[in-house]
Amino acid sequence: MISQQEFERIVVYMKRKSGINLSDKKVLIQGRLDNYMQRNGYKSYNEFMDIVEKYPTGPEAETLMNTLTTNHTYFWREYEQFLYLKKSVFPELKERTQNTHDWRIWCAASSSGEEPYTLAMLCMDYLGLEHNKWDTKILATDIDTSVLEKAVKGIYSKDSVENLPEHYVRRFFKQINDKQYMVKDELKREVLFRQFNLMSTLPFRKPLHIVFIRNVMIYFDEKTKQKLLDNIYEVLEPGGYLFIGSTESITQTNTKFRYVQPSIYRK
Ligand SMILES: C[S@@+](CC[C@H](N)C(=O)[O-])C[C@H]1O[C@@H](n2cnc3c(N)ncnc32)[C@H](O)[C@@H]1O
Repeated sequence: MISQQEFERIVVYMKRKSGINLSDKKVLIQGRLDNYMQRNGYKSYNEFMDIVEKYPTGPEAETLMNTLTTNHTYFWREYEQFLYLKKSVFPELKERTQNTHDWRIWCAASSSGEEPYTLAMLCMDYLGLEHNKWDTKILATDIDTSVLEKAVKGIYSKDSVENLPEHYVRRFFKQINDKQYMVKDELKREVLFRQFNLMSTLPFRKPLHIVFIRNVMIYFDEKTKQKLLDNIYEVLEPGGYLFIGSTESITQTNTKFRYVQPSIYRK
C-alpha cells in the first residue's frame, strides 16, 4: 500500500525531474510499481524513494522513470501530418536547402521508434534517388531508456508494421518470423536515438527545420508546456515547422508560433 505522503513524494519527484504531472494518478502509480516493490523486497515506497533520491543516476531512478512514463505509439500515427509533410513541407525544404543538402529534423519524445522511423521512410521516399546526396538523419530522443533500447533494436510485431503503407513495409523491413519484422539497416542508419529529458536545456547549435513533439505535452502542466514551447521556438529556424499531437493545442494568445492547420505550426 502507498500512503498519501509516499504518493505525494513520487508526484513531486516526477514533476521536478521530468515535468510529468501525476497528481491524479495514484492508481496508475500503484498499478505499475506495486509488483516491482514486492519482487525487490521493499518494505515501503519510502524505502524505495530513499534509494532513488540518494542515487539520482542509479538503476532505481531509471526504473522509476521508465515505469511511470506512458509510451503508447504506433507506425503512421495521425498520418495526415505525414501526408502534409510530403505534400507541402518537403518540397519547400528541398528548395531551401539546395546549397546545404542538410535537413535538421528532431523527433522529441520518440518512444519506441515508430514515429522517427516513419519520418525517415518519408524522407527517403520523397527524395528518391537523390536521397544519398542529402543528409536527412533524424534525431530521435526520449527520457525512457527502455523504449530507446527497443527503438535501436528495431524489431516490431507484424500487426504494428501493417499500419504502414505496404510499399514501405516491403522496402524498409525484413520479416524475421511469423510474428515479427525488423527495420533494415538502411533505415536504421537514418535515425539517431539518444536519451534526452525535455526539461533540460535544448542542445542544438544549428537551427532546426522540423520538430515533432507529439503526445507528450499532455503529461505536462500548462506552465511547463509553455516554457518548453518557447524553448522549441528558439531552436527552430524562421519558417521552421512544429508538429504536435492531434488532441493537443497551443493557446494562440500565449505563443509566437503561427497556426498553419490543426496541430501544425510555424515559426
Ligand atoms: C505517448 S508517448 C508519444 C510517442 C510519440 N511521440 C507518438 O506520438 O506516438 C510519450 C513519450 O514521451 C516521453 N517523455 C515523457 N516525459 C518526457 C521528458 N521529460 N523528456 C523526454 N521524453 C519524455 C515518454 O517516455 C514517452 O515515450
